[in-house]
Amino acid sequence: MVERIHSEIVRGWPEVDLSRFPIDRFRHLEETGSTNDDLLARARSGSACPYDLISADFQSRGRGRRGDRWEATPGRNLLFSLALPLDGDRQLWPRLPHLTAWIVGSAVESILGPGYRLQAKWPNDLLHEGRKLAGILVEIVLAPEPYAIVGIGLNVNLREEELPPDLRPIATSLYELLGCESSRWFLLGQIVQGFLRHFPEKTDDFATVLDWIRPRDFLVGQRLSVRSGREWFEGHGRGIGDDGELLLETLTGELAKIVSAEEIRRG
Ligand code: BTN
Repeated sequence: MVERIHSEIVRGWPEVDLSRFPIDRFRHLEETGSTNDDLLARARSGSACPYDLISADFQSRGRGRRGDRWEATPGRNLLFSLALPLDGDRQLWPRLPHLTAWIVGSAVESILGPGYRLQAKWPNDLLHEGRKLAGILVEIVLAPEPYAIVGIGLNVNLREEELPPDLRPIATSLYELLGCESSRWFLLGQIVQGFLRHFPEKTDDFATVLDWIRPRDFLVGQRLSVRSGREWFEGHGRGIGDDGELLLETLTGELAKIVSAEEIRRG
Protein backbone atom coordinates (compact mmCIF):
# COMPACT_ATOMS: atom_id res chain seq x y z
CA MET A 1 0.00 0.00 0.00
CA VAL A 2 1.43 3.40 -1.00
CA GLU A 3 1.15 6.21 1.48
CA ARG A 4 1.43 9.86 0.54
CA ILE A 5 3.83 11.62 2.85
CA HIS A 6 1.66 13.69 5.15
CA SER A 7 4.19 16.55 5.23
CA GLU A 8 3.78 17.09 1.45
CA ILE A 9 0.08 17.65 1.93
CA VAL A 10 0.36 19.73 5.09
CA ARG A 11 2.88 22.01 3.36
CA GLY A 12 -0.06 23.22 1.26
CA TRP A 13 -1.86 24.43 4.40
CA PRO A 14 0.17 27.56 5.22
CA GLU A 15 -2.68 29.34 6.96
CA VAL A 16 -3.78 26.46 9.15
CA ASP A 17 -2.74 26.63 12.81
CA LEU A 18 -1.48 23.08 13.26
CA SER A 19 -0.45 23.41 16.90
CA ARG A 20 -3.25 21.01 17.98
CA PHE A 21 -3.04 18.76 14.91
CA PRO A 22 -1.08 15.48 15.24
CA ILE A 23 0.73 15.79 11.91
CA ASP A 24 2.72 12.59 12.40
CA ARG A 25 -0.45 10.54 12.69
CA PHE A 26 -2.08 11.87 9.52
CA ARG A 27 -2.11 9.19 6.83
CA HIS A 28 -3.17 9.51 3.23
CA LEU A 29 -3.58 6.07 1.68
CA GLU A 30 -3.75 5.21 -1.98
CA GLU A 31 -6.33 2.60 -1.15
CA THR A 32 -8.13 1.27 1.89
CA GLY A 33 -11.40 -0.48 2.75
CA SER A 34 -13.02 2.43 4.53
CA THR A 35 -11.36 5.33 6.32
CA ASN A 36 -14.14 5.20 8.90
CA ASP A 37 -13.43 1.52 9.56
CA ASP A 38 -9.70 2.29 9.88
CA LEU A 39 -10.30 4.97 12.51
CA LEU A 40 -13.00 2.97 14.29
CA ALA A 41 -10.45 0.17 14.71
CA ARG A 42 -7.92 2.64 16.14
CA ALA A 43 -10.48 4.09 18.54
CA ARG A 44 -11.73 0.67 19.70
CA SER A 45 -8.20 -0.56 20.36
CA GLY A 46 -7.41 2.52 22.41
CA SER A 47 -4.81 3.79 19.96
CA ALA A 48 -6.71 6.80 18.58
CA CYS A 49 -5.72 10.31 19.47
CA PRO A 50 -7.64 13.59 19.06
CA TYR A 51 -7.76 14.79 15.42
CA ASP A 52 -6.35 11.57 14.00
CA LEU A 53 -6.94 11.84 10.28
CA ILE A 54 -7.00 9.15 7.59
CA SER A 55 -7.77 9.96 3.98
CA ALA A 56 -7.73 7.79 0.89
CA ASP A 57 -7.71 8.06 -2.89
CA PHE A 58 -9.92 5.00 -3.11
CA GLN A 59 -12.07 2.93 -0.75
CA SER A 60 -13.04 -0.62 -1.65
CA ARG A 61 -15.68 -0.82 1.10
CA GLY A 62 -16.71 2.83 1.50
CA ARG A 63 -19.84 3.11 3.60
CA GLY A 64 -22.70 5.58 3.69
CA ARG A 65 -25.49 5.81 6.21
CA ARG A 66 -27.93 2.90 6.64
CA GLY A 67 -25.31 0.46 5.29
CA ASP A 68 -25.35 2.04 1.80
CA ARG A 69 -22.17 1.79 -0.25
CA TRP A 70 -20.14 4.95 -0.93
CA GLU A 71 -18.26 4.65 -4.20
CA ALA A 72 -15.94 7.10 -5.91
CA THR A 73 -13.49 7.13 -8.83
CA PRO A 74 -9.91 6.83 -7.50
CA GLY A 75 -8.14 10.12 -6.81
CA ARG A 76 -10.99 12.45 -7.72
CA ASN A 77 -12.71 13.18 -4.41
CA LEU A 78 -12.01 13.78 -0.77
CA LEU A 79 -12.62 10.64 1.26
CA PHE A 80 -11.49 10.99 4.84
CA SER A 81 -12.27 10.45 8.49
CA LEU A 82 -11.34 12.48 11.54
CA ALA A 83 -11.41 11.35 15.19
CA LEU A 84 -13.05 13.90 17.51
CA PRO A 85 -12.63 13.33 21.27
CA LEU A 86 -15.98 13.43 23.08
CA ASP A 87 -16.73 14.55 26.58
CA GLY A 88 -19.56 13.13 28.63
CA ASP A 89 -22.34 15.46 27.44
CA ARG A 90 -24.25 13.04 25.21
CA GLN A 91 -26.99 15.56 24.57
CA LEU A 92 -24.58 17.46 22.35
CA TRP A 93 -23.60 14.47 20.22
CA PRO A 94 -26.58 14.72 17.77
CA ARG A 95 -25.27 18.19 16.91
CA LEU A 96 -22.06 16.77 15.39
CA PRO A 97 -23.44 16.05 11.88
CA HIS A 98 -24.67 19.65 11.71
CA LEU A 99 -21.37 21.06 12.96
CA THR A 100 -19.66 18.98 10.28
CA ALA A 101 -22.08 20.12 7.56
CA TRP A 102 -21.42 23.74 8.56
CA ILE A 103 -17.61 23.32 8.52
CA VAL A 104 -17.53 21.41 5.22
CA GLY A 105 -20.25 23.58 3.64
CA SER A 106 -18.47 26.81 4.57
CA ALA A 107 -15.20 25.54 3.07
CA VAL A 108 -17.00 24.52 -0.12
CA GLU A 109 -18.92 27.79 -0.42
CA SER A 110 -15.71 29.78 -0.01
CA ILE A 111 -14.28 27.91 -3.02
CA LEU A 112 -17.47 28.26 -5.06
CA GLY A 113 -17.78 31.99 -4.44
CA PRO A 114 -20.75 34.25 -3.74
CA GLY A 115 -22.95 33.11 -6.64
CA TYR A 116 -23.49 29.70 -5.04
CA ARG A 117 -25.43 28.61 -2.00
CA LEU A 118 -25.49 25.01 -0.81
CA GLN A 119 -28.46 23.18 0.70
CA ALA A 120 -28.23 21.15 3.91
CA LYS A 121 -30.42 18.06 3.85
CA TRP A 122 -31.11 16.92 7.39
CA PRO A 123 -29.27 15.35 9.03
CA ASN A 124 -26.05 15.29 7.04
CA ASP A 125 -26.03 15.76 3.27
CA LEU A 126 -24.81 18.80 1.40
CA LEU A 127 -26.52 19.47 -1.90
CA HIS A 128 -26.42 21.99 -4.68
CA GLU A 129 -29.77 22.57 -6.41
CA GLY A 130 -30.99 19.24 -5.05
CA ARG A 131 -27.95 17.23 -6.18
CA LYS A 132 -25.66 15.66 -3.61
CA LEU A 133 -22.19 17.13 -3.24
CA ALA A 134 -21.12 15.61 0.09
CA GLY A 135 -22.17 12.95 2.58
CA ILE A 136 -21.30 12.76 6.26
CA LEU A 137 -21.18 9.63 8.40
CA VAL A 138 -20.71 10.12 12.16
CA GLU A 139 -20.06 6.98 14.21
CA ILE A 140 -19.51 6.90 17.96
CA VAL A 141 -17.05 4.72 19.88
CA LEU A 142 -17.71 4.72 23.62
CA ALA A 143 -14.79 2.70 25.01
CA PRO A 144 -12.00 2.76 25.99
CA GLU A 145 -12.23 6.50 25.27
CA PRO A 146 -15.26 8.14 23.68
CA TYR A 147 -14.66 9.35 20.13
CA ALA A 148 -16.82 10.49 17.23
CA ILE A 149 -15.42 9.18 13.96
CA VAL A 150 -16.53 11.74 11.40
CA GLY A 151 -16.37 10.42 7.84
CA ILE A 152 -16.73 12.79 4.93
CA GLY A 153 -17.11 12.04 1.24
CA LEU A 154 -16.90 15.23 -0.83
CA ASN A 155 -17.22 15.18 -4.61
CA VAL A 156 -14.40 17.46 -5.70
CA ASN A 157 -13.08 16.61 -9.17
CA LEU A 158 -15.50 13.85 -10.11
CA ARG A 159 -16.79 14.03 -13.70
CA GLU A 160 -20.47 13.43 -14.30
CA GLU A 161 -19.68 10.63 -16.77
CA GLU A 162 -17.82 8.78 -14.01
CA LEU A 163 -21.03 8.43 -12.03
CA PRO A 164 -23.31 5.42 -12.54
CA PRO A 165 -26.20 6.56 -14.82
CA ASP A 166 -28.80 6.33 -12.03
CA LEU A 167 -26.81 8.79 -9.86
CA ARG A 168 -26.19 11.41 -12.58
CA PRO A 169 -29.43 13.36 -11.99
CA ILE A 170 -28.99 13.35 -8.19
CA ALA A 171 -25.26 13.93 -7.62
CA THR A 172 -22.79 16.64 -8.57
CA SER A 173 -19.23 17.78 -7.85
CA LEU A 174 -17.25 20.99 -7.56
CA TYR A 175 -15.79 20.22 -10.97
CA GLU A 176 -19.25 20.05 -12.53
CA LEU A 177 -20.25 23.34 -10.88
CA LEU A 178 -17.08 25.29 -11.65
CA GLY A 179 -15.90 23.66 -14.86
CA CYS A 180 -12.35 23.30 -13.50
CA GLU A 181 -10.44 21.24 -10.96
CA SER A 182 -10.09 22.30 -7.32
CA SER A 183 -7.28 21.27 -4.97
CA ARG A 184 -8.43 18.45 -2.72
CA TRP A 185 -5.62 19.23 -0.29
CA PHE A 186 -6.47 22.90 0.03
CA LEU A 187 -10.06 21.94 0.82
CA LEU A 188 -8.94 19.30 3.31
CA GLY A 189 -6.80 21.93 5.05
CA GLN A 190 -9.75 24.32 5.26
CA ILE A 191 -11.95 21.63 6.75
CA VAL A 192 -9.33 20.50 9.29
CA GLN A 193 -8.86 24.14 10.25
CA GLY A 194 -12.64 24.43 10.77
CA PHE A 195 -12.61 21.53 13.24
CA LEU A 196 -9.49 22.76 15.05
CA ARG A 197 -11.07 26.18 15.47
CA HIS A 198 -14.65 25.27 16.25
CA PHE A 199 -14.81 21.83 17.86
CA PRO A 200 -16.05 21.37 20.53
CA GLU A 201 -17.00 25.02 21.22
CA LYS A 202 -19.62 25.34 18.49
CA THR A 203 -21.43 22.16 19.52
CA ASP A 204 -22.18 23.88 22.80
CA ASP A 205 -22.60 27.41 21.46
CA PHE A 206 -24.72 26.05 18.57
CA ALA A 207 -26.38 29.26 17.32
CA THR A 208 -23.70 29.92 14.68
CA VAL A 209 -24.25 26.47 13.20
CA LEU A 210 -28.05 26.88 13.22
CA ASP A 211 -27.77 30.31 11.61
CA TRP A 212 -25.91 28.69 8.72
CA ILE A 213 -28.05 25.54 8.44
CA ARG A 214 -31.55 27.02 8.72
CA PRO A 215 -31.53 29.20 5.59
CA ARG A 216 -30.12 26.23 3.66
CA ASP A 217 -32.60 23.66 4.99
CA PHE A 218 -33.55 21.48 2.00
CA LEU A 219 -36.45 19.68 3.69
CA VAL A 220 -38.35 22.68 5.02
CA GLY A 221 -41.86 22.87 3.57
CA GLN A 222 -41.56 19.48 1.87
CA ARG A 223 -44.06 16.63 2.30
CA LEU A 224 -42.10 13.95 4.17
CA SER A 225 -42.43 10.37 5.41
CA VAL A 226 -39.84 9.76 8.10
CA ARG A 227 -39.03 6.47 9.81
CA SER A 228 -37.50 6.80 13.25
CA GLY A 229 -37.00 3.44 14.93
CA ARG A 230 -40.18 1.45 14.25
CA GLU A 231 -42.37 4.51 13.86
CA TRP A 232 -43.28 6.33 10.65
CA PHE A 233 -44.07 10.05 10.81
CA GLU A 234 -46.01 11.71 7.99
CA GLY A 235 -46.15 15.44 7.53
CA HIS A 236 -44.29 18.53 6.38
CA GLY A 237 -40.77 19.68 7.23
CA ARG A 238 -40.92 22.68 9.54
CA GLY A 239 -37.23 23.35 9.98
CA ILE A 240 -34.47 22.42 12.39
CA GLY A 241 -34.92 22.62 16.17
CA ASP A 242 -32.49 24.22 18.61
CA ASP A 243 -30.65 20.92 19.18
CA GLY A 244 -30.49 20.08 15.49
CA GLU A 245 -33.58 17.86 15.47
CA LEU A 246 -35.91 17.68 12.45
CA LEU A 247 -39.21 19.45 13.09
CA LEU A 248 -42.13 17.79 11.35
CA GLU A 249 -45.71 19.03 11.41
CA THR A 250 -47.68 15.82 11.30
CA LEU A 251 -50.89 15.43 9.30
CA THR A 252 -52.83 15.83 12.55
CA GLY A 253 -51.14 19.18 13.15
CA GLU A 254 -48.75 18.19 15.96
CA LEU A 255 -45.09 19.17 15.90
CA ALA A 256 -42.84 16.09 16.09
CA LYS A 257 -39.17 16.54 17.03
CA ILE A 258 -37.16 13.81 15.35
CA VAL A 259 -33.65 13.28 16.66
CA SER A 260 -32.63 10.40 14.40
CA ALA A 261 -34.15 8.75 11.37
CA GLU A 262 -33.40 5.63 9.37
CA GLU A 263 -35.36 6.68 6.29
CA ILE A 264 -36.69 9.90 4.83
CA ARG A 265 -38.94 9.92 1.79
CA ARG A 266 -40.03 13.06 0.03
CA GLY A 267 -43.33 13.70 -1.75
C1 BTN B 1 -23.81 9.24 3.36
O1 BTN B 1 -24.11 10.16 2.60
O2 BTN B 1 -24.56 8.26 3.50
C2 BTN B 1 -22.50 9.32 4.12
C3 BTN B 1 -21.34 9.03 3.22
C4 BTN B 1 -20.00 9.07 3.95
C5 BTN B 1 -18.86 8.60 3.07
C6 BTN B 1 -17.52 8.81 3.74
S1 BTN B 1 -16.17 8.61 2.60
C7 BTN B 1 -15.03 8.63 3.93
C8 BTN B 1 -15.65 7.85 5.07
N1 BTN B 1 -15.37 6.43 4.95
C9 BTN B 1 -16.47 5.71 4.71
O3 BTN B 1 -16.50 4.48 4.55
N2 BTN B 1 -17.54 6.52 4.68
C10 BTN B 1 -17.19 7.91 4.91
